[in-house]
Amino acid sequence: MFDVVGVLVLFALVALFGFLATRAWKLKNGLLRWGGVVMTGLLAVIPAALLVLALRGFYLLNQRFDNPVADIRVAGTPEQIARGQQLAHLCTSCHTTNGQFPLSGTNFVAKFEMPPLGTLYGPNLTPGGNIADWSDGQLIRAIREGVHKDGRSLLVMPADTLRNLSDDDVQALVAFLRSQPASGEPTPANHFSLLGAIFMNLSDFRTVQPPVAGVSAPPPGTDEYGKYMVDVLGCRSCHGEQLEGKADTGQPGPPPGPNLTHIIPQWTEDQFMTFFNTGQLPDGSSVPILTLSSGFSSPRMPWDEMRASATDDELKAMYAYLHGLPPVDGPAQ
Ligand code: HEC
Ligand code: HEC
Repeated sequence: MFDVVGVLVLFALVALFGFLATRAWKLKNGLLRWGGVVMTGLLAVIPAALLVLALRGFYLLNQRFDNPVADIRVAGTPEQIARGQQLAHLCTSCHTTNGQFPLSGTNFVAKFEMPPLGTLYGPNLTPGGNIADWSDGQLIRAIREGVHKDGRSLLVMPADTLRNLSDDDVQALVAFLRSQPASGEPTPANHFSLLGAIFMNLSDFRTVQPPVAGVSAPPPGTDEYGKYMVDVLGCRSCHGEQLEGKADTGQPGPPPGPNLTHIIPQWTEDQFMTFFNTGQLPDGSSVPILTLSSGFSSPRMPWDEMRASATDDELKAMYAYLHGLPPVDGPAQ
């Protein structure tokens, strides 16, 4: 991932205006001399600053991480595949164009109408994609730690929530990925423009995590198990670390959700289940739908994907955990 032409153009601009500045310095007329030096100097400083930012951005995009790769072979039992398929509903929005299995990949920039900073794909996760050459350990590391097979950080991939997956659940996901029919094309490599690399300095969308190993889920049916699923489903990424709600900062990214520590203790289990089954709130209103001109459309909170990723018992455990949370005051919304 490196834009050679862009970097050379910036370099040439710095050299050109730098050279003109030395010429201006030699002029006899004082006014012309100082005016010329200041003007050409400024014209050299701007591309020089952009060059530094771009080089730093490309460095970040290509930086390598040496998180260990587990030496493991996933058995791929029917139970693992079924569990993995359930959890894999969490992957459909970014790894398919139409939201349906198989996870044969999509053009992420086009689907989510991202600014044209480069190319980025939600890669093909069927055996027809690049992962056919990845080991099970490399896949597990990609899912929980956001590290590509080659050691660079994945971008956007929500490893910060998927890192909560237990060893059993992440292995189930790998079993499901491998069980899909080979479909789609291998995913093209990403290319970032100069602008994309400069943008990395403002908003770093790398998702690399520290190594994860030896995670087991709490016993099913307990509040702790409910917390486990809340963590895996990523409720905190929109509702805040303590589920205390997030303020709308106008930044790109997931929509801010309201304070669940104030809301869920007022809800019955039935109301909670209805919300996840239909998107309908106790007052009869529904979660608003977001539609992009790319054709992508989803409720602002994708309750349908989350519903599909959890069993009834898991949703009930989530309710029990959330219902018992002490109220925390969050930001004004
Ligand atoms: C918010 C969007 C998003 C979600 C949700 C998501 N991913 Fe990703 N994932 C990505 C993007 C984007 C990339 C490519 C990143 C890159 O190339 O830098 C990626 C890359 C990967 C890769 C590396 C594959 C390759 O060929 O490079 C794996 C494996 C992966 N994701 C698995 C999963 C699984 C399993 C899930 C669901 C449990 C999931 N992802 C959910 C966005 C997402
Ligand atoms: C992608 C961001 C996102 C994620 C992830 C997310 N939510 Fe939400 N959630 C929202 C938004 C935004 C709303 C407000 C919807 C609206 O505009 O009415 C909301 C609303 C809710 C509500 C209704 C509250 C009310 O009275 O309006 C509940 C309950 C809820 N979320 C629970 C959860 C749980 C539990 C999880 C994890 C399983 C979760 N959410 C994950 C964004 C998210």
